[in-house]
Amino acid sequence: MAPSVSVKLGGATLLAASALAASPSSYGYGHNSTTASPTPTITSDASYSSTTFNASAASTYLPLTDFSNEQLAFLWDQVGSISTAAIHTTVSPTPEPSVYPKPGYLHPLVPAYISEVESAKLPEDFLWGVASAALQVEGAVDAEGKGPSVWDFIPHRWVNSIADNSTADVAANQYYLYKQDNARLKALGIPAYSFTISWPRVIPFGKGPVNERGIAHYDDVFANMEANGIKSVVTLFHWDTPLALFNSYGAWTSRDIVADYVRYAKLIIERYDKYVTVWYTFNEPQYCNWRFSNYPYGTLLPSYNGIGNGGLKAEFLCGHYTLLAHAEVYQWYKNVYKGTKPMSFKNSANWILPNSTSAADAEAVTRVNDFNMGWFGGPWTDGDYPASLRSTLGDLLPTFTQAEKDMIKGSADFYALDGYTANVAAAPPNGIAACAANASDPNYPTCAVTATTYADGFPIGPNSDPGATWLWSTPGGIRPYLSFIANKYFPKVASKGIVVSEFGFSDPYESSFDTLAQILWDLRRADYMQGYLDNILAARALDGVNITGIFAWAIYDNFEWNSGLSTKFGLQYVNLTSQERHPKASMFQFLNWFKLHGLDSTATANITAPIGHKRM
Ligand code: NOJ
Repeated sequence: MAPSVSVKLGGATLLAASALAASPSSYGYGHNSTTASPTPTITSDASYSSTTFNASAASTYLPLTDFSNEQLAFLWDQVGSISTAAIHTTVSPTPEPSVYPKPGYLHPLVPAYISEVESAKLPEDFLWGVASAALQVEGAVDAEGKGPSVWDFIPHRWVNSIADNSTADVAANQYYLYKQDNARLKALGIPAYSFTISWPRVIPFGKGPVNERGIAHYDDVFANMEANGIKSVVTLFHWDTPLALFNSYGAWTSRDIVADYVRYAKLIIERYDKYVTVWYTFNEPQYCNWRFSNYPYGTLLPSYNGIGNGGLKAEFLCGHYTLLAHAEVYQWYKNVYKGTKPMSFKNSANWILPNSTSAADAEAVTRVNDFNMGWFGGPWTDGDYPASLRSTLGDLLPTFTQAEKDMIKGSADFYALDGYTANVAAAPPNGIAACAANASDPNYPTCAVTATTYADGFPIGPNSDPGATWLWSTPGGIRPYLSFIANKYFPKVASKGIVVSEFGFSDPYESSFDTLAQILWDLRRADYMQGYLDNILAARALDGVNITGIFAWAIYDNFEWNSGLSTKFGLQYVNLTSQERHPKASMFQFLNWFKLHGLDSTATANITAPIGHKRM
């Protein structure tokens, strides 16, 4: 047996590695010991104490009090090495062309879908434009004092979590190119831009000091948009939770997030309200699973709040704190700050068709709606969750106090729908009641089976890129869906207005095209645009739904979360090497539609492209 050797190093007594390797069980660390471990003797130095360390018992709270540069550097170390763009200073814009290359007669744009709305006009104050989100387009993720978000951490540290192993480090580099982007929007005659603020860019740790350079950046973005005459539609939170808040208390599974989010929201609103046309507090809270769980995606680091690896408890806690955070900001904005701009949050929801005429399939449809849009329907109902969620989830669903319900009730000025696609729903084979009574049932808690084929097996529409398998082009779904929201599901909000705050399409395998010629004729996206726009207009002009705005996703190609940079949603192509942007056919489809339907355009560029023969 090798003798144990003690080494004094900088005041600490360490055991020499050779001693540990040769005689593991002597100190109680060995896994192969066949004899009982003696009580460990750590050191003879009386100033040392000892404890039983156990990382998996880490469950509650790591105080966040150090807001130093060193701590910021540690956070970025946690993420890993960040790529820097070739362009890494703010660029002054060059003049936009007076005419852009566009589709011509040999293959014109897609003709109208609904002849009854061909002459229908939108009012002057109709709000329309294109959309993006900070994490997906900005790049410059560690520039100028920004802190990391969970979405900087995930692509770098969770192996194979992004389909193409890309990161958002550079993306479309909007952080440095926004002046040119705004000049482009102006030249194309796009009156409004729906974009988001990065919380960790302005408050690097999520709480604590404000980052002066981050604020200075957004000051200039807003001023530049105003100078270009582009309306700002602003979302305060689009999934990029500050990583430090996960480290500290598990972010959205802790009530602490409410105060930190509210403080951040107030800062942004107080500073930029004068520029903003519409405020959204949250993007798609239905995707709490993008930010729920004990830690980003649960399994990488210790658990918090006794939640283990995410799951339903985390999901519904996250939804709960999101609703509280939203409502607190709304009530403060209207009643204390006396803000006058419309405020809401963007909902991810889709039209659900029953698989058959059976009562069970009708109930399945209702449950999908309840568990999706109804979950966040408190602002338009009584401030609480739907009864079906309460009876199915029991203790998994947190409860609101009466005061909280009162705060949530009415806390939105209009309904915002990110409505991309549709689904078919059926009752599960073992029946809804049996599923709802059994938390281990594979279909629990929604207890409906959704599909993207009709009952006869035919697909509901053309499918999107393999990175967006959830997305099928189903223009026939958006019109009845808007009527359903307005007349049946949330009738109170209908008179206030519905904004289609996102819709868009990812052409299959677009990233495999290697010439601009292949990329620019994005026929499926162009067809999707025409079909959706006509159906949204039909809901307004023919069905009487009070649609007040439309925003297309996305301003240009960007970082599509777990699908990475190769799933493309842009109305403009982005060359990721040169960062040049090129409008695709779908952009002209979109712009021509608004020209046809009567809004004044401030475009300086001639954007009209030929439209194909009328459909029969
Ligand atoms: C909605 C989300 O808000 C956005 O971030 C995402 O890129 C699009 N859907 C497309 O999936």
